[in-house]
Amino acid sequence: MTQSKREVSQRYDLFATPVVTWEHEQPDLNAALKQALVDDPFYRSPEQAQKSDSINLCDLADKVPAFKQLEMLALADLTEYCRQIGWIGEFDVEMQMFANVSAARHYVPSHNHVAHIASVYYVATTPTEKPVLEAQSAMKNYWQPAEGALILHDPRFNASLMGGWQFHAHVHPRPGLMIMFPAFVWHEVVPHFQPDPRLSIAVNFTLTYRDVDQAQKRTTLTVDPA
Ligand SMILES: [Fe+2]
Repeated sequence: MTQSKREVSQRYDLFATPVVTWEHEQPDLNAALKQALVDDPFYRSPEQAQKSDSINLCDLADKVPAFKQLEMLALADLTEYCRQIGWIGEFDVEMQMFANVSAARHYVPSHNHVAHIASVYYVATTPTEKPVLEAQSAMKNYWQPAEGALILHDPRFNASLMGGWQFHAHVHPRPGLMIMFPAFVWHEVVPHFQPDPRLSIAVNFTLTYRDVDQAQKRTTLTVDPA
């Protein structure tokens, strides 16, 4: 009796979605950012949530040292993110940095960002004992998410709708957390119920090679191999 040849399977996990977090110990920076946002009457106006991305905090960085410090921190993290995903070279960077001041019960519906890389830095959040990121959060958490959580949706078309591809990630922010992910990732923010507003600052990055129109330039970035 002849034995049949064993068939060999090969698995490829294609199209990974790189998400990187940093837990920065920056209480002084957080206090200064909080003060800058609380001092600005714009963030107390009723329409601030829909207009907040019209103010690029990079434009205020020369006047507000905390914004400058966060800009530098975000660029340092961007450099590491680019190195990790293999974007090596010299880039011009369009950088949009804007604050989110969210009162209790404020909900941010599912959206993505018009950029290459999106990031969020958290200044003040709901206290939590949960891990920073649950990569494959249980399905019950999709329908019953934790207070103040950031939900990252599976970016694959029809994922989270079709049985078997219902993955999502649950992020439990805390002050000093920076998270960076591809801007195409759909995400939403669950309401909190704390007396003080949740404060976060979103940073969008669009990277191009150096021969871009001067008017679009913000700063430059060089990513050397590790
Ligand atoms: Fe967002």
